[in-house]
Amino acid sequence: MGYNVQRLLSLLGAIPLVLAAQTLVFSNPSNSPTEPSSNYVGSSNFTLPRANRVPGEVFDRIIIILLENTDFATANSTPTFQQLAKEGILVTNYHGVGHPSEPNYVAMAGGDTFGLGSDAFVDAPENVSTIVDLLEERGISWASYQENMPCNGYNGMTPSSPPNEFYQRKHHQLAIWNSVKLRPRRAALLRNMNDFAADINANALPQFVYITPNIDNDAHDTTIEFAAQWLQFFLIPLLKNPNFNDDKTLVVVTFDENETGPLNNNVLTLLLGNAVPQRLRGTVDSTYLTHYSLLTTPQVNWGLDCLGRQDTNKTVANVFSFVAEQVGFRNQVVTNPPLTNGTGTIPGPFNPNGMVTPFEAPNTRAQCANSRGRVFVNNNPPINPNLFANGQCPQVAFSKDPNVQWNPSVDAKIAEEQAKCEASTLSIDSL
Ligand SMILES: *[C@@H]1O[C@H](CO)[C@@H](O)[C@H](O)[C@H]1NC(C)=O
Ligand SMILES: *[C@@H]1O[C@H](CO)[C@@H](O)[C@H](O)[C@H]1NC(C)=O
Ligand SMILES: *[C@@H]1O[C@H](CO)[C@@H](O)[C@H](O)[C@H]1NC(C)=O
Ligand SMILES: *[C@@H]1O[C@H](CO)[C@@H](O)[C@H](O)[C@H]1NC(C)=O
Ligand SMILES: *[C@@H]1O[C@H](CO)[C@@H](O)[C@H](O)[C@H]1NC(C)=O
Repeated sequence: MGYNVQRLLSLLGAIPLVLAAQTLVFSNPSNSPTEPSSNYVGSSNFTLPRANRVPGEVFDRIIIILLENTDFATANSTPTFQQLAKEGILVTNYHGVGHPSEPNYVAMAGGDTFGLGSDAFVDAPENVSTIVDLLEERGISWASYQENMPCNGYNGMTPSSPPNEFYQRKHHQLAIWNSVKLRPRRAALLRNMNDFAADINANALPQFVYITPNIDNDAHDTTIEFAAQWLQFFLIPLLKNPNFNDDKTLVVVTFDENETGPLNNNVLTLLLGNAVPQRLRGTVDSTYLTHYSLLTTPQVNWGLDCLGRQDTNKTVANVFSFVAEQVGFRNQVVTNPPLTNGTGTIPGPFNPNGMVTPFEAPNTRAQCANSRGRVFVNNNPPINPNLFANGQCPQVAFSKDPNVQWNPSVDAKIAEEQAKCEASTLSIDSL
């Protein structure tokens, strides 16, 4: 699912796919990452307002960049990654949490795969919370930048017409959540790379940022060398740009999953940016970490509440060790790492193999990584109280109505633009 026509044709045989991967040549989409590109249509022509900065204990901004399907050793033997590792921390014991792609993206934003073991078009009801709720509760600005996404808040599968056919819903951390995409003001923060250029130039990059390059630039349909060229075009110049990498910015570069087995989903991760202390540059972090660490690390940094899902499961939710040390968080020593390389082996509402269960309420008895934090409950529509573990919720932070802060006329305008865009973009999946 989600392939455009050309890719579908190339998938008909493994040999053309391999040939295609070897012959694709990276070309810069524009002169620089801060200049708009004619490859990215559908920008909504507005720049985010410059938000207040909520200080974190270790960083004030985290930028999470996701690449695709590469084994640790493959990335580690590539000169661009070796060069970057000297400028930051090389994380050696970091793991994806399932196969194929989508469960990994879902997990890092929502704290669970919900049983997903495919790249299907799924939606989570509004009462399922995500990192967005935790950030907004503390007034921390956020956005998601998805290369080639046809319009802000786009909710379709991959469009079949160029140049948007390289956007992948399955690689978008925030695509499935009704609590995000059905609220126009939040949907407007799901942006494309021309918006990114505008936001950087206005020095308005938010404090929590996801970036997913398109399916060629992230190595999925290409090679690690191709993705390395994208990093040379995009990331390496931006590391010198204070509107991107200021004195308290942490940049995490990671991969959704490995490429070959049996490696238990170990992927290379790099910690870059000026929030990485000088004395630790060129060193290694060998703590057992997973995509759930992308939830707990901001939680301990900003004192956020938590989701009461796998982000509170101590085995799989360690914090990057330089952050843990600075905030006094004690990581678990995981000597016998769990297998996180299965496909659809975990029961849940999205399980593709018949192990379907309802959406559970979060575990409100769980302890947040931020020890003072409470489990956040998005209770609209109401969560069945009988589903709370042990029938009690002593430390719950119920969400306030998230719509009250938004201007209704702005909401309506954005919703109208989004509807227009979706009507005009044909997806092969809807044919
Ligand atoms: C953005 O601006 C361009 C040029 O000004 C225009 O062609 C395009 O339709 C605008 N897009 C939207 C979504 O308003
Ligand atoms: C990653 O490795 C696992 C085995 O650990 C394998 O089953 C899976 O297909 C690999 N991932 C990809 C995207 O090929
Ligand atoms: C998962 O990883 C384990 C440990 O490396 C390996 O033995 C197993 O074959 C892998 N499973 C799959 C489905 O690849
Ligand atoms: C915590 O994670 C481990 C490893 O994946 C798993 O075996 C265990 O069931 C999880 N615990 C809960 C309460 O989900
Ligand atoms: C969340 O809302 C849905 C309605 O959209 C409801 O069916 C479900 O029971 C609620 N979830 C929980 C855990 O109560």
